Amino acid sequence: MAIIIDGKATAQKIRSEIAAEVRHLATEGIQPGLAVVLVGDNPASKVYVSMKEKACHDVGIFSDEHTLPAETEEQQLLSLIDRLNNDDRIHGILVQLPLPTHINEAKVLEAISPAKDVDGFHPYNVGRLVLGKPTFQPCTPYGIMVLLREYNIDLKGKEVVIVGRSNIVGKPVAFMCLKQHATVTICHTRTVDLPTKIGMADVLIVAAGRPEVVRGEWIKQGAVVIDVGVNRVAEKKLVGDVEFETAARRAAYITPVPGGVGPMTITMLLQNTLQSAKMANEIKSTAKEQSP
Ligand code: GUN
Repeated sequence: MAIIIDGKATAQKIRSEIAAEVRHLATEGIQPGLAVVLVGDNPASKVYVSMKEKACHDVGIFSDEHTLPAETEEQQLLSLIDRLNNDDRIHGILVQLPLPTHINEAKVLEAISPAKDVDGFHPYNVGRLVLGKPTFQPCTPYGIMVLLREYNIDLKGKEVVIVGRSNIVGKPVAFMCLKQHATVTICHTRTVDLPTKIGMADVLIVAAGRPEVVRGEWIKQGAVVIDVGVNRVAEKKLVGDVEFETAARRAAYITPVPGGVGPMTITMLLQNTLQSAKMANEIKSTAKEQSP
């Protein structure tokens, strides 16, 4: 039976470390601030945004929430982002995705200052990630890497197979694994013979967004299984993208759903916001020292 990777406990531990750092910054008169922008009333997005707000509150980060109606014009959203880019109390700006279809998502993400892009979605930061340079790491892949490190799972020379090629998870996590010296394969909906590809994986990362598409019997004995999926299949039942019971019998390590990757995502958002606040204040104090 696999060791269960406890994302909830890991997230809790990191959040208390963040809270301690936020308290320390407060003694220097600094409070990290995160602006969260929600356009429209997608029910899942509303839940995520309220979870982010509560998480900020719990660790002492200032949360500035903006809820705009679904019919908001692109220009109005761009003006709000411009205002937040220039607001010194705000160190992170997150525009919840998906946006209504009349708004150009790429244009909105590019309008966010790369220095406040705590989601790591701006092309400048994506480029830095691809180059292996320090940057804001997208929160879900960042959470996955922290979980692997927490459980001492070394990626060097390992076969990592990723299912899903989204900009939010699949693509960034591929580059992060490459940086850790893994050999990386990205699979997607057009991949031929998925079971064989999955069978090669020492570490399998699934972010396909489809309930239990990965069958336990495809998984190599002793593999590490990271399941990013969250699928509601009944009123009170959530399942991942991996068939948990059968996978857990073959894997050495596995993340549960819920309680695996999920709690890490918002935690890494808090971490990125804290990092951004620290960087902004270092920049500011340097500027002060240099001014005549
Ligand atoms: N929608 C789903 N995941 C995410 C995320 O990590 N960030 C944002 N902004 N929107 C999302």
